[in-house]
Amino acid sequence: MVRLVRESFAVVEPQADHVAEAFYATLFSIAPEIRELFPLNMQVQRTRFLRALVHIVQMIDRPEELGPFLRQLGRDHRKFGVVSRHYEPLGMALLSAIKKFAGGAWTVEVEHAWAEAYTIVARAMLDAAAADEGPAWWTATLVGHERRARDLAVVRLQPDHPVPYLPGQYLSVEVPQRPRLWRYLSPATLPRPDGLLEFHVRAVQAGWVSRAVVAEAQPGDVWRIGPAMGRLRVDRNAGRDVVMVAGGTGLAPMRAIVEDLAQWGDNPRVHLFFGGRVRADLYDLSHLYNLAGSNPWLTVVPVVESDADAATMQQGTLADVVTRYGAWADRDILVSGSPAMIRSTVSRMLVAGTPLDRITYDPFTLD
Ligand SMILES: Cc1cc2nc3c(=O)[nH]c(=O)nc-3n(C[C@H](O)[C@H](O)[C@H](O)COP(=O)(O)OP(=O)(O)OC[C@H]3O[C@@H](n4cnc5c(N)ncnc54)[C@H](O)[C@@H]3O)c2cc1C
Ligand code: HEM
Repeated sequence: MVRLVRESFAVVEPQADHVAEAFYATLFSIAPEIRELFPLNMQVQRTRFLRALVHIVQMIDRPEELGPFLRQLGRDHRKFGVVSRHYEPLGMALLSAIKKFAGGAWTVEVEHAWAEAYTIVARAMLDAAAADEGPAWWTATLVGHERRARDLAVVRLQPDHPVPYLPGQYLSVEVPQRPRLWRYLSPATLPRPDGLLEFHVRAVQAGWVSRAVVAEAQPGDVWRIGPAMGRLRVDRNAGRDVVMVAGGTGLAPMRAIVEDLAQWGDNPRVHLFFGGRVRADLYDLSHLYNLAGSNPWLTVVPVVESDADAATMQQGTLADVVTRYGAWADRDILVSGSPAMIRSTVSRMLVAGTPLDRITYDPFTLD
């Protein structure tokens, strides 16, 4: 099954965009009621689905790695309004799209292999969704919107019920300005008794949701918030010091972890590299300096790519500056920021000699 799925997928992969288009067209024609679950603009969704499919095909013979991915995906689909009866038409549409582009590579055996693979995937997602007893989403009202820069806002939301998360995790959000376009944001504080959530949002160029949040969101807006995900954390008992590398609003999860650690007297040493293109991008530096002032285990290192007015700061990309200090081989490393920043930092650290299993970052492959 694994071989047949991989070989036939390799045939259609060069035309993946067309496969995705055919897949959604077929899905919406055989099950029109499914269309309204999806956003009007399907561009991001098509990319995310394809990335997930590639990941699944790569991992199909590694259930110990694929399992957690599928379970999270299945749980996460509850917030889209997806229920078990949707899985059959989706499977039919997927097989029909692959068949269309596989040409002569599509045989009865290949069809059976895909049907078996899809059943395994759908079963794992459905079982995880059924086992999840928490709400599929929470609603939260925007109570604060502070513009820290032209392209950056700090927003605060009061959920109807506290949303459970661990410091360092991220939540998915849907904002009223962009219905059905869910995006990930990381709370920037540790969970508070009153449930208040704080997000730091940077408007990315041509960004559908981030630009709406920075420019249009206002008090009274009601957001939907999906369940927490993510692996960034500090194990205080691991006996290892920590390096945090945060680009832009990638600071948010690190700040939540640092605030959490600050509740304890005894902590590992933490070096927090906080980077931006210019000094103005380091929007939360004074707060970090305050934290470092009262927590001797915390060292904050501001990094700017190039800014003549910030001569006292380390200059270069985060990847340049962090690896200038060596491999940090005895540390646990947490990395957070844009996909490009995570990619370059992790690859440069690996070249510098940092062991891969010491580096943690949240997957940006779905984005
Ligand atoms: C685990 C995780 C946690 C996140 N936490 C935060 C957070 O706390 N604060 C925050 O502001 N954002 C965060 N993001 C990014 C956020 O989820 C969105 O991807 C981002 O806001 C862009 O969404 P959009 O709808 O505006 O852009 P889209 O309309 O989805 O994309 C528009 C264009 O921007 C590019 N793009 C998408 N994401 C980024 C990015 N992060 N950086 C640069 N270019 C991008 C796309 O490739 C595309 O070309 C997080 C992402 C992940 C995966
Ligand atoms: C093989 C099974 C499936 C895979 C691999 C898959 C994959 C994905 C991925 C990767 C995302 C983006 C996740 C995110 O934004 O957090 C997504 C979103 C979504 N999926 Fe699926 N999915 C599957 C089954 C289904 C089914 C059966 C339905 C129902 C018809 C469905 C409907 C949706 C919807 C409505 C979204 C949100 C779209 C958006 O916000 O842009 N999915 N899916």
